[in-house]
Amino acid sequence: MSDLFSVKGRVALVTGASRGLGKVFAKTLAEHGATVVLSSRRESDLQAVKDEIVKAGGKADIAAFDVQDEARAVAAIKAIPQKHGRLDILINNAGILRRDMLLDTPTEEFRNVIETNLTGAFVVAREAGRIMQAQNYGRIVNIASVMSILGRASVGPYVSSKHAIVGLTKTLAAELGPNVTVNSIAPGYMITDITEALQKNVEFSAMLEKRTAARRWGKPEDLSGALMLLASDASSYITGHTLVVDGGLTSVLAGA
Ligand SMILES: NC(=O)c1ccc[n+]([C@@H]2O[C@H](COP(=O)([O-])OP(=O)(O)OC[C@H]3O[C@@H](n4cnc5c(N)ncnc54)[C@H](OP(=O)(O)O)[C@@H]3O)[C@@H](O)[C@H]2O)c1
Repeated sequence: MSDLFSVKGRVALVTGASRGLGKVFAKTLAEHGATVVLSSRRESDLQAVKDEIVKAGGKADIAAFDVQDEARAVAAIKAIPQKHGRLDILINNAGILRRDMLLDTPTEEFRNVIETNLTGAFVVAREAGRIMQAQNYGRIVNIASVMSILGRASVGPYVSSKHAIVGLTKTLAAELGPNVTVNSIAPGYMITDITEALQKNVEFSAMLEKRTAARRWGKPEDLSGALMLLASDASSYITGHTLVVDGGLTSVLAGA
């Protein structure tokens, strides 16, 4: 059974690996034997994550780039198989969120979210996908959101970008098969920097805990099972799928 979920000897790129969900994705893959290439904009933050992984006996490397900087992203991703021999797994996770009602959202802000969360994810997946298709093996895991399914006031650009990630996932799955699978994980509300304002909002927090069958916020580690499934051979016949990991938030109307 453990072989089925093994990522031992695999080479993985994790974007947005400096903190939050991406940091835990990277550490989890490294703990299970993958060599992890850590990416985000600031090299110093990545160095700290790399040190943690190496101290725990794992293998990690750094490839800092802004997903909006196409030239740097393309060069950094091309360099991975040159340096590590392969690129087997992509966790396409870098993302931002801006809070504003749509009627108050400047176009530049809308574009910035779309350029990071959607165009950036496309560029990274395209480059990784080319490498994976040529080597006849790959696992692409895009990080979507419950905001890929639900709408919500005040986060319009984010909701738009995350709905589009589901379409990107399905299209890439159709084009990259049969040996490269492309899926998404759609997390619910998880405790990271991106949700800091909501965590401090007592009313929202109480509503969420009541509304969610799990009765609590998610922790980044709650995604580890979905990560290991979609990053390993266990998911070889799963592609184009969005796996919702939200404590039941979008499946049930919890709370009596
Ligand atoms: N937390 C949640 O409740 C939740 C729920 C559903 C989905 N998600 C999704 O999960 C992903 C990770 O979120 P998180 O909660 O871990 O957020 P976070 O703690 O704010 O981390 C975001 C990561 O993305 C990186 N990043 C941002 N803009 C970038 C850019 N232009 N180029 C390269 N890297 C960039 C950040 O690094 P730098 O700023 O240093 O570049 C950081 O490593 C996002 O796609 C988010 O939409 C989160």
